Amino acid sequence: MATVTELLTPVELDLETLLNDLRSLIGAGHPILQAAAEHLFSAGGKRLRPGIVLLISRALSPEGDLSARHRRLAEITEMIHTASLVHDDVVDEAATRRGVPTVHSRFNHRVAVLAGDFLFAQASWHLANLDNLDVVKLLSRVIMDLADGEVKQGLYRYDAGQSFSTYLEKSYCKTASLIANSAQAAGVLSEQSEEHLKLLHRFGRQLGLAFQVVDDILDFTASDQQLGKPSASDLASGYLTAPALFALEERPALAGLIEREFADEGDLQQALELVRDSEAIPRTRELAENFAKESRDALFWIEDSPFSRALLDLPQFVLSRLY
Ligand code: IPE
Ligand code: IPE
Ligand code: MG
Ligand code: MG
Repeated sequence: MATVTELLTPVELDLETLLNDLRSLIGAGHPILQAAAEHLFSAGGKRLRPGIVLLISRALSPEGDLSARHRRLAEITEMIHTASLVHDDVVDEAATRRGVPTVHSRFNHRVAVLAGDFLFAQASWHLANLDNLDVVKLLSRVIMDLADGEVKQGLYRYDAGQSFSTYLEKSYCKTASLIANSAQAAGVLSEQSEEHLKLLHRFGRQLGLAFQVVDDILDFTASDQQLGKPSASDLASGYLTAPALFALEERPALAGLIEREFADEGDLQQALELVRDSEAIPRTRELAENFAKESRDALFWIEDSPFSRALLDLPQFVLSRLY
């Protein structure tokens, strides 16, 4: 399976322009905040979300071209994503991100809180300047969902009795909402029918859920180095993701360890082993496969082009991160 860079080849030049534009957009800020933001944009994430917006925009244009507003939408999407990561890493006390120290560990917490706010604020300003109320509604909803998701996650820490639907709602808020709503917003700027807008939202939603479920598996199975961020940290922080929730059904002993918050020596190690040795990982993989399939199916109507082919390959790419 292709790497993300290969998959995004049809919009490779657009993504280069995006990085330069993001640098000059944030260049106007306070030097420390600028340093913090620069630090993140240079470290280079996968740029999956703007890649999706760009692919959809070009796939839906009769000539395969890209308007300035579509371009700006892609930039806003990456700004919102990056802001959410800066804040998420403060909440999670994570030391690394994108293979480099997080903003709060490189600078301090005050800088990280302000840098995240600053990016959200910049994103909102550029969003308003797109002068399209439907797009403003879609993307400002995402910012609400992100905050809601972080709060939900905090409320259910170490709660072994939480339902699977709580986990899915949290995942929608933290991850799928941005992909779903930015995909739909690209469709709005391309003047698509209501029916197509719904399907673009569904494509992004199911893809986002698949992506988060895969990330949650990788937290149990991959190394820090592979991820560019700390692994085996969700359970340690009391965040019960799909693998832990499935394992709880099979191994009742896990509940006790979680509820005493891994207080005794060896508790965490034992809990990780209980999850890894159960059927939980294969069951979670199946869940991701279903979301990925539903995501692809939502694009049955899209006309054939190099851009739409890349979009149709994305769900499989998300799963391929597991192998
Ligand atoms: C990280 O997203 C947050 C999750 C939804 C798991 P990415 O894995 O896309 O992060 P970057 O942008 O490539 O660093
Ligand atoms: C991903 O949540 C979504 C956001 C950061 C908003 P995670 O908490 O799973 O992301 P990582 O694992 O820190 O990248
Ligand atoms: Mg996190
Ligand atoms: Mg994670």
